[in-house]
Amino acid sequence: MKVELTLNGRPAGLDVRSDEMLLAALRREGLNSVRETCAIGVCGACTVLVDGEPVSGCLTLAATVAGREVTTVEGLGESDPVLRAFNEAHAFQCGWCTPGFVLTAKAMRPGDDVREALGGNLCRCGCYVKIEEAVRQCVS
Ligand code: FES
Ligand code: FES
Repeated sequence: MKVELTLNGRPAGLDVRSDEMLLAALRREGLNSVRETCAIGVCGACTVLVDGEPVSGCLTLAATVAGREVTTVEGLGESDPVLRAFNEAHAFQCGWCTPGFVLTAKAMRPGDDVREALGGNLCRCGCYVKIEEAVRQCVS
């Protein structure tokens, strides 16, 4: 089936199976910042924004994003304030989990509890202190 949506700010059409997850569909489009790790909604590595809210790509049927706005890290500009904050805080080691954290941070509002908001994102490198530092800069 064809799913028409807005993908990273542009109209797009994804050819998907009815049982296919958004994670697989986006990666097939070359959006490899969307990472498959646990594939059961636990780690946050596959986080994307749907209409500005973070969702797990591994748990979201691709067909359900028809008519909606999907954002991955590839859709952020180089001057994006969250990306800049992560760079300035050196908030990564291997970088595997970074796109998911960045997109979760994009959806945060001033005053949100940083630890609580990032609770669904796991970092195996253990960069939490730097990541929290970067995100605090963005929501303070
Ligand atoms: S790969 Fe989707 S939450 Fe882990
Ligand atoms: S930076 Fe390596 S898993 Fe998070």
